[in-house]
Amino acid sequence: MPDDVVTMDKIVALCKRRGFIFASSEIYGGIGSTYDYGHYGVLLKTNVKNEWWRAMLQERDDIVALDSAILQHPKVWEASGHLAGFSDPMVDCRTCKQRFRADHVDHEEMCPAKASLPKTEDRRHDFTEARDFNLMFETTVGPVKDTGSIAYLRPETAQGIFINFKNVLQFARKKPPFGIAQVGKSFRNEITPGNFIFRTREFEQMEMEFFCPPQDAPRWYEEWKATRHAWYTDLGIRPDHLQMREHDADELSHYSSGTADVEYLFPIGWSELEGIANRGNFDLTQHAEHSGEKLEYFDPQTKERYVPHVIEPAAGADRATLAFLVDAYDEEQVDDGDVRTVLKLHPRLAPVKVAVCPLVKKDGQPELAREIFAALRGRMQTEYDEGGSIGKRYRRQDEIGTPWCVTVDHQSLEDRTVTLRDRDSLQQERIAIDELPALLSERLAAPWTSPKLTA
Ligand code: GAP
Repeated sequence: MPDDVVTMDKIVALCKRRGFIFASSEIYGGIGSTYDYGHYGVLLKTNVKNEWWRAMLQERDDIVALDSAILQHPKVWEASGHLAGFSDPMVDCRTCKQRFRADHVDHEEMCPAKASLPKTEDRRHDFTEARDFNLMFETTVGPVKDTGSIAYLRPETAQGIFINFKNVLQFARKKPPFGIAQVGKSFRNEITPGNFIFRTREFEQMEMEFFCPPQDAPRWYEEWKATRHAWYTDLGIRPDHLQMREHDADELSHYSSGTADVEYLFPIGWSELEGIANRGNFDLTQHAEHSGEKLEYFDPQTKERYVPHVIEPAAGADRATLAFLVDAYDEEQVDDGDVRTVLKLHPRLAPVKVAVCPLVKKDGQPELAREIFAALRGRMQTEYDEGGSIGKRYRRQDEIGTPWCVTVDHQSLEDRTVTLRDRDSLQQERIAIDELPALLSERLAAPWTSPKLTA
């Protein structure tokens, strides 16, 4: 288990205290394992998704973007195998009607509906035989509710990509090897959701399907494992808290000839962050069979026709957000004997990049601070903060992970300089106001390593 000060309870408390993430429908008593993102949570998760897009689209030229519908033709899920196979074995208690995962069930557990029975009676659950319970959420489409109107909320974004293979091939002027990337919500009626946003029933995925000639698939599989591992460490995740775990043969899906999980050392132990799979030609072949459409590539040079093989890096945006929060969380003893809680987030991930604070709310300081705020906010997420003592404001910004605070004081009005406070080193430098925008943009773009690594 990790030796960090961080626990899941501390992350949940910080997220609530600072308005990152709240339990959903709280005023109605909540709805289990469903969360709403507040201002800083939205900014953080958006930054995570934007970094993923940057890595997929901006930093290379062999991947295109897609945003497919959440509701798809039910045949999609027949072809993908989700209708028949995306299920967990479940048992029900005939007395209290609760449902349990068959592999997690405790046959000695007392049934709450039998609590008032005399001790001489059997007060344990009365379990049914195990039955498969499909994890897809079912809904109906249109005004008439009958079997013809059943649809499913997508349990993964991947299938929306496969069914658009032909469109992209035609309109994006790409040929294998190329990828299609998508970010969006997925839904699974998880039986055992939990650990905050680690496993929920509604979550966001960041998936990319990389189509390549069959003989090149093993090489691309290795390449994507390395690329995805580097994405997390480049964004500050400590390498000793990240590992690549290759699946054993008995863990592999029937279509997969290789799957590896990127795992992070969460406070709950090593857990999956992202899966990278060599899916072969399973998905395109299945959709071709079920739809009657040819989903293949004709190479005009070699005159060869083939069904591309697919390498899939599939990540969770919420799970990645949780990993970045956990990795960044720190508590430090400071000079005044207090403990400061700080999120040492990569500056590109930090919800707010810079806070501009007048030292006092008079003598022209707020006006100058607002002028600086106006000069910075077009370049980066900036916050104007004048409430409370400067010490309290710094602590608040530390807790939301703001890498820099600019403070306007009496000297600023004399020589147009400000102090620039660094979140991690706590160093304060005197900087000319006119140099701030360029300096902060430069620091934001610079490579970064977690200060927890060198501590
Ligand atoms: N298309 C392949 C696929 O969906 P997966 O391993 O089931 O693979 C990929 O999901 C990623 O999506 C996981 O590694 C995880 O980060 C995220 N994910 C899956 N189920 C989740 C859930 N119930 N809550 C939050 N994130 C989830």
